[in-house]
Amino acid sequence: MDFKTIIEPFRIKTVERIRLTTPQEREVFLQNAHFNPFLLRSDQVIIDLLTDSGTSAMSSEQWAGIMRGDESYAGASSWLRMEKAVQDLTGCPYVLPTHQGRAAEHLLYSRIGGPGKVFVSNTHFDTTRANIEFSGATAIDCPIPENRDPSLLHPFKGNLDTAQLLDQIARNGAENMAAVILTVTNNSGGGQPVSMQNARDVAEICKKYGIRFILDACRIAENAWFIKHREPGFENATYREIAQQMFALADGCIMSAKKDALVNMGGFLALRDLDLAVQCRTVLIITEGYSTYGGLSGRDMEAIAIGLEEVFDADYLHYRIKSTEYLAEKLHELGVPIMRPAGGHAVYVDARVFYPEIPLDQYPGQVMVCELYRLGGIRCCEIGSVMFGKYDADGQLIPATMDLVRLAIPRRVYTQSHIDYVVETFGELVKHRDKKTGYKITYEPPFLRHFTARFKAVV
Ligand code: F0G
Repeated sequence: MDFKTIIEPFRIKTVERIRLTTPQEREVFLQNAHFNPFLLRSDQVIIDLLTDSGTSAMSSEQWAGIMRGDESYAGASSWLRMEKAVQDLTGCPYVLPTHQGRAAEHLLYSRIGGPGKVFVSNTHFDTTRANIEFSGATAIDCPIPENRDPSLLHPFKGNLDTAQLLDQIARNGAENMAAVILTVTNNSGGGQPVSMQNARDVAEICKKYGIRFILDACRIAENAWFIKHREPGFENATYREIAQQMFALADGCIMSAKKDALVNMGGFLALRDLDLAVQCRTVLIITEGYSTYGGLSGRDMEAIAIGLEEVFDADYLHYRIKSTEYLAEKLHELGVPIMRPAGGHAVYVDARVFYPEIPLDQYPGQVMVCELYRLGGIRCCEIGSVMFGKYDADGQLIPATMDLVRLAIPRRVYTQSHIDYVVETFGELVKHRDKKTGYKITYEPPFLRHFTARFKAVV
């Protein structure tokens, strides 16, 4: 029998109190945070959907591993365990531990990037792009065209457009292509999956032209779920085998362990090329730490080794993807415009469509994140003109291509009743959909303004 209720495939042994605030309290908190949820304190939040990164609940096995952590400077047993777990999964012999994903990006992209070099990706995540551009190189996003239409259904909306890739190779010359980066799942492109066929096609092109193929693998277990259930030929493969097949196509990978390794901190770079690994290892030792711990404690490495096993558990992945899909479908039923189909780790709401009357320079996405906080104490992130907007010569806003709001779901943290509460809050939001005004920015720093910008309501 197929039960409809998504049960969490774990019992709860330790609990963390959520302070249930009142709407009156939240109004004050929001004003004190200058209408920017990034400036709220976490104990002012009821359900925190700001990110799925580093917010996972660890298992009792991982906590046991934390106690076993070997804190030796060199050759710690915890490092050997993590190294083996990464080698077994990725097939890459050279593993470099780092304190998180972007540190691994810095190691690799500062080596292979530089002025005149070009990177192509299905969509570069912000820190990936920043590391590439910081080296002087250029980062070009080439998602398939379907990715740009939020409501269009496609099983692998995160795929890279291989025709555009070929075009970029022809334009820039294969010798100037530093790497092709496949981000699985495609976070900035809506958390959408990438098919094995797409990865194979990319690998073949890269091989033909002698270009490095790197996987940004931080959500590769979630991606494997979509392949098993949507791509013919994988019905009988395990999630882990699917991930291993995808890793086998690439020359190396970067992983922020804060996602699918189910830990709160950590990451790694894994490579097949010894020469490149030696070069990156030199930077690792200078900037992160000795090569057998990078920026990590022994206990962190122990927890990563265990998390990389646990994440491929079939019951866990089923619960994970189905609970994200559940939220997406409930919001769709309420008439809330969302990016469809649902991604693996998050639901993306189209705030521009939800609030058609709010001018773009009054930030409809910011209105939605503030309203969700006011109504339900839910914290989430604007991914739109606050995050990506620029100004023209006259100081007028050049809006982002979309004004989305991301509801990112932490792993193993919230139960179905928490998600039902989020749905109920959206039910209230829908009743006040006729808003006509939004916010103006009163303070913004020159870079990454969304983290610290301050706003005031337009009345
Ligand atoms: N690549 C992708 C696809 C990511 O989503 C992230 C982080 C990184 C690299 C960088 O990893 O944070 O460990 O340095 N994404 C987080 C998010 C921050 O909220 O989506 P990191």
